[in-house]
Amino acid sequence: MTPPDYEYLRKLLKDHSGLDLSADKHYLIESRLLPLARKAGLNGIGDLVQKLKGGSAAIVTQVVEAMTTNETFFFRDKVPFDHFREVIMPEIIKARANRKTIRIWCAAGSTGQEPYSLAMCVREMSAALAGWRVEILATDLSQDVLEKSRSGIYSQFEVERGLPIQLLVKYFKQTGELWQINPDMRAMVQHRQLNLLHDFTQLGTFDVIFCRNVLIYFDQDTKVNIFNRLARATETDGFLVLGAAETVVGLTEAFRPFPERRGLYRPNGSAAATERMLGIGAGLRKAAIAGG
Ligand SMILES: C[S@@+](CC[C@H](N)C(=O)[O-])C[C@H]1O[C@@H](n2cnc3c(N)ncnc32)[C@H](O)[C@@H]1O
Repeated sequence: MTPPDYEYLRKLLKDHSGLDLSADKHYLIESRLLPLARKAGLNGIGDLVQKLKGGSAAIVTQVVEAMTTNETFFFRDKVPFDHFREVIMPEIIKARANRKTIRIWCAAGSTGQEPYSLAMCVREMSAALAGWRVEILATDLSQDVLEKSRSGIYSQFEVERGLPIQLLVKYFKQTGELWQINPDMRAMVQHRQLNLLHDFTQLGTFDVIFCRNVLIYFDQDTKVNIFNRLARATETDGFLVLGAAETVVGLTEAFRPFPERRGLYRPNGSAAATERMLGIGAGLRKAAIAGG
């Protein structure tokens, strides 16, 4: 690959998906894009770049999708789902007692393991949620992963990654070598294609946003821009959950870390929300001490 071709692809990916490749990721581009070039009947990366320059939107989408990292698994990192069960849901259930509606957004839901993990958590809390409406919206840049997420179909290998056997048996049906999540669970998750680089105000506001393991691929300015827009999409007493390698600290004041809960944040906007946050933080600390 020539240096100008590499630079062209680097800029195209940054502009279309936010992916911020360093100067030495030739192998990554080649391993992901050569198969795509061959499939399109092209000779190599040089020809692919020529085709991209020709302005075909379909090939741009294919290149961008081929370069995204879609790695995910059920209950990934465990801790965020503990936050969800132990802090987020109890707090939101209290705060929304009149409205009885909760809106959750998985902002880079990939092939669905994350939104369906949340759906299972919600279903497991159904005693506290009788008469409530819980919306889970899964969005992603990639149509391919959304398609799989919509289908709710997973291989044996995928259901063995992170999914407790009792939840597999309870919420999935086996067909041959594949497992499909039950229709009522599938119906709990809405899907929509969305690029986080673009405006998302049309989605409205959410009580909980999971935005995990996507911002790590972006440069600082892009992260700051997205954090600030995510803050506007989060209810003032809502929550943001980031991936294990991600933080707002040092980047924006729009969110503040929730005490003693790694990866959990609240919008910085409202003093009342902060007070509530400290209240529940103290309550949980007391409970933790009492429970040993
Ligand atoms: C590594 S996966 C993370 C999946 C899940 N959140 C998790 O933590 O397991 C990253 C996802 O981000 C999506 N993605 C990449 N760039 C994006 C963008 N600009 N807007 C929305 N989604 C994007 C990819 O398609 C991919 O499915």
